[in-house]
Amino acid sequence: MKAAVTAYKGYTISRIDHRVYGAFLEHLGRAVYGGIYEPDHPTADADGMRGDVAEMVRELNVPFVRYPGGNFVSAYNWEDGIGPKDQRPAQLDLAWHTTESNQVGVHEFAAWCDTVGTEMMLALNLGSRGLEEARNFVEYVNHPGGSKWSDMRRKNGRAEPWDVKLWCLGNEMDGPWQIGHKTADEYGRLAEETAKALRAFDPSLELIVCGSSHANMPTFPQWEATVLEHTYDVVDHISLHMYFRNPEKNTGDYLALNEKLDAYIGTVAGVISYVKAKKRSKKDITICFDEWNVWYHSNEQDRKILEGRDGWPEAPPLLEDIYNFEDVLQVGCILNTFIRRSDVVKLAAIAQLVNVIAPIMTETGGSAWRQTTFFPFFFASKYGRGNALHLLTDCPGYDCVHGDNVPYVDVAGVHDEEGGFVTFFAVNRNQTEAMELDLTVAGFGSARIVEHKMIRHDSLEAVNTADKPDEVAPQDVEGANLDGERLSANLPSLSYHMIRVA
Ligand code: AHR
Repeated sequence: MKAAVTAYKGYTISRIDHRVYGAFLEHLGRAVYGGIYEPDHPTADADGMRGDVAEMVRELNVPFVRYPGGNFVSAYNWEDGIGPKDQRPAQLDLAWHTTESNQVGVHEFAAWCDTVGTEMMLALNLGSRGLEEARNFVEYVNHPGGSKWSDMRRKNGRAEPWDVKLWCLGNEMDGPWQIGHKTADEYGRLAEETAKALRAFDPSLELIVCGSSHANMPTFPQWEATVLEHTYDVVDHISLHMYFRNPEKNTGDYLALNEKLDAYIGTVAGVISYVKAKKRSKKDITICFDEWNVWYHSNEQDRKILEGRDGWPEAPPLLEDIYNFEDVLQVGCILNTFIRRSDVVKLAAIAQLVNVIAPIMTETGGSAWRQTTFFPFFFASKYGRGNALHLLTDCPGYDCVHGDNVPYVDVAGVHDEEGGFVTFFAVNRNQTEAMELDLTVAGFGSARIVEHKMIRHDSLEAVNTADKPDEVAPQDVEGANLDGERLSANLPSLSYHMIRVA
């Protein structure tokens, strides 16, 4: 079977905002403690941060890391994480039923961000707290000095402000599980007033208001409409979250979930347009998809801790999904969707970064390794920067619960004008047959295939572990051919591809 795809130079969707390759790190399980921070680890630096983990994070080249939550933030006191470490209080984390030692706070996180070469995106607690604490925190982080909170930061050892631009106005405030959950009107008003206060401090901040936690929320998409009616003039982005699951082990349905993702994004883009028109506004709001990933493998094993049957453990293993080869294909399709919707999705964050539903895993005291899903993210982050191409595709498809005639080959293309490269990311979702990719690359002047990487395994269940860290990994492929403007490549059944031409 054949997938005919045409890319024309100049026929672009949008410039991809590189911030679509961001990540998320929460005080949850072993993400921070035993993940990025482990003072006794042989690779730890003077701040107690693991060098082996930092190295892998650098490889992913994430432009920002969202912190400190997640559900955690909605009962978090940021002041508990500053000052001398031996005076910081331990707190009960109500979101994950654990104990938070507060040995890592904003100072330690900021220093780690410098080490790994990324920016901070900070989330504010609009659950148990509100405007007052939010504005104090922003002053602490961003004001040079001469005020109560900025001078306290200086006293705590940091003279320069961090000048953080990206601020989340709460987390998943539509969710009844959220500490301090609110109705859309209650939250919309609080977010509006908080945004106004923060803008009075610094109009150049980029503020992100909470959209829906997922597309099946009963309040979706009215939540977005109501919240934006309150906040449209004072925020920049609306956040969306979505997690991908396959507990029924139905590969066809699972790998078509990005149809649902695409519709979700499209609906919210429509709601943004609706509110914009209603307000007769010239301003555009864009989407910050600040939590996305596969999350279901660990659900069962987490139940005991989350139900409180283990008391209040400190940094226990939680949400430690071990990703398989099938998840590589899923993550590839998700990232392709973000590239194709780069006109409206300007920021996104893989949730999360280390140990907790993450591309990087560690053993406490032991090694760190790349999960299977590390690789499609690595390729997209590395080569998916430039202009997203509007591809014309003609490809047979299959019917499933998420739609009919879902194309077997999911493909996205990116033109890096400065580098002179065109990169295609393709996932063959056909479970029984190889697909012949017949790609017309028109007007780019491409003369050669620079690289063709494939990720494939005979078993969809194959995983990487500390003992077998390379079980699922990219391999070089020969055989693709570029003849004039026609590129042909064989895509074996159930395989991921990254093909670059120059
Ligand atoms: O990423 C795990 C959790 O998923 C986050 O804390 C929350 O925002 C979402 O429900």
